[in-house]
Amino acid sequence: SAAEKGGWSSFMRKEISEQPDAVANTILGRVVDGQVVIPELDAFGDDLLRDIRRITVIACGTAAYAGMVAKYAIEQWARVPVEVELSHEFRYRDPVLDEHTLVVSISQSGETMDTLMAVKYAREHGAKTISVCNTQGATIPRESDGVVYTHAGPEVAVASTKAFVAQVTALYLFGLHLARVRGTLDDAALAGYVEELQQVPGQLGEVLEAESERVAQLAHWMADTRSVLFLGRHVGYPIALEGALKLKELAYIHAEGFAAGELKHGPIALIEPGQPVFVIVPSPRGSQSLHPKVVSNIQEIRARGARVIAIAEAGDVAVLPFADEVIRIPLAGPLFEPLLAVVPLQLFAMELSEAKGLDVDQPRNLAKSVTVE
Ligand code: G6P
Repeated sequence: SAAEKGGWSSFMRKEISEQPDAVANTILGRVVDGQVVIPELDAFGDDLLRDIRRITVIACGTAAYAGMVAKYAIEQWARVPVEVELSHEFRYRDPVLDEHTLVVSISQSGETMDTLMAVKYAREHGAKTISVCNTQGATIPRESDGVVYTHAGPEVAVASTKAFVAQVTALYLFGLHLARVRGTLDDAALAGYVEELQQVPGQLGEVLEAESERVAQLAHWMADTRSVLFLGRHVGYPIALEGALKLKELAYIHAEGFAAGELKHGPIALIEPGQPVFVIVPSPRGSQSLHPKVVSNIQEIRARGARVIAIAEAGDVAVLPFADEVIRIPLAGPLFEPLLAVVPLQLFAMELSEAKGLDVDQPRNLAKSVTVE
């Protein structure tokens, strides 16, 4: 009903706008004196976390992309190998599991059948299991050894938005916790990352404030578009995949996400004059920056006529000569950019859906929670 939407035209619009709170509430109570504490994992035990040799993340849909983002952070911080796999693939492939394997499941609803069965399978085969879930007391957390709840609040629109940023946040908190327990980051480094994470809610607010209108305009101009490509690298790669998924789900437009480095191995053949391509541009700061490589990807596709919509950090002027549109995100740590870059892509898909007169909250053929195989 209109009252439940609290004045917003759709649950999707409401939930996208609630993302600063989704992140802030997921952090709330889990940072004490600048250090991460996850009381829920006390029972799980630090010895157990020290004993882990690898992590397998299992999830479906948008939750799997949250896992892909977190892989980069957890490996960098806690120096544990992380693989991410779709639940339905994992449970049918005879995966190698033992008591040194931690299986982290991610599910907004906590009821996705494939993810639930994968968790059960992992436990039966001796792995330790932790669930990242947005629904108190749901089946998946009940079937897991430990749970880190996301506090995004109820998500009603079928396609996931605020749960995604909350999932990345919870996984980052878990990664920092793991790094402290395993001694892979010193206190100063830990405190630095915690501080960057704590800035995200405010920065999400800035993106929403500064870019919503322009993205809406762009979507209206592009209402007849038949295909959109998304490019990203490193943590921007899963964001490219998520941007494409949102556009398929909400606007029924053919969309694909690619790792920018893969461009010359196939996708560049798709570029023809007028082809819209969103590019998630990494920050130019830092010696390890992938920025120049992505800028040269932009030049390559631009030379072949692509219409480039760059999502770039504030102050990044290197992209200006080559991009048709530039959407700005505030300066954040390189690992925190995906939390901001995803917002314009969510808004774009939502606005395009509305421009086409579609039901943005309940897209055809989809269910909020897939409780069958
Ligand atoms: C459905 C929803 C997606 C969601 C996926 C996983 O397909 O439409 O938005 O990402 O399920 O759901 P879960 O509740 O396990 O996160």
